[in-house]
Amino acid sequence: DIYEYEEEGCKVVAEEIADLIREKQQKGEMCVLGLATGNSPRGVYKELVRLHKEDNLSFSNVITFNLDEYYPMEKTSVNSYNHYMNELLFDHVDIKPENIYVPDGSVARDKIKEYCNAYEKKIDEVGGIDLQLLGIGRTGHIGFNEPGSYMNSYTRIIALDDITIDDAVKDFGSLSEVPKGAITMGVGSIFKAQKIILLAWGSNKAEIIKKAVEGKITDDVPASFLQQHKNVKFVVDIYAAGEL
Ligand code: GLP
Repeated sequence: DIYEYEEEGCKVVAEEIADLIREKQQKGEMCVLGLATGNSPRGVYKELVRLHKEDNLSFSNVITFNLDEYYPMEKTSVNSYNHYMNELLFDHVDIKPENIYVPDGSVARDKIKEYCNAYEKKIDEVGGIDLQLLGIGRTGHIGFNEPGSYMNSYTRIIALDDITIDDAVKDFGSLSEVPKGAITMGVGSIFKAQKIILLAWGSNKAEIIKKAVEGKITDDVPASFLQQHKNVKFVVDIYAAGEL
């Protein structure tokens, strides 16, 4: 779906999420959301907070799994995705703390494998993700699944691509401050979701959106794997759609 303005697209996606939460509520079921960070979903979280405050949307039946976190990274650091999620969403809604899962970038190196396997297992245990939100990096990454990530990759630690590290300098202040790794759900983890919505705004995403949507399916562009998912929607603005 193509919108003229980012704000408009974010509102429609937030409404869709709210509808799903309410539908599950009526059935007495939990709603499992897969969440993304970065700039792209900011407007969605803003609108969800508004719907909570002004339209009685409750998150009491919501379980969330975030896609990724830098490694190494303290949870409390202002640059952590843990911090981002608290600031933008969790601190402002009635989600139960025990229903929030964001990868922990401070687990000891020798415990990472075990930690990642447990994260993946937890997603399956609660019945899998109903709706997964995604952004896209200029390398074509989804989550932090950089080029070279396989279709059957699951939650694991990865090394960040140089382009991704460069793009993160604006957040961290300098190159030396940017973590060189991350814990991320895999392409396979993402694929298990019932529905996927990928968000992209602005002309600097136009080239990679074209490759992801119209290009060859290849691990050089991990987002291109999405062409094979049964229920996926790209929500973009006219600028990100500029090369389609
Ligand atoms: C980071 C995140 C991704 C996100 C991407 C794009 O690398 N790990 O999940 O999709 O950035 O970010 P933005 O939405 O800021 O363009």
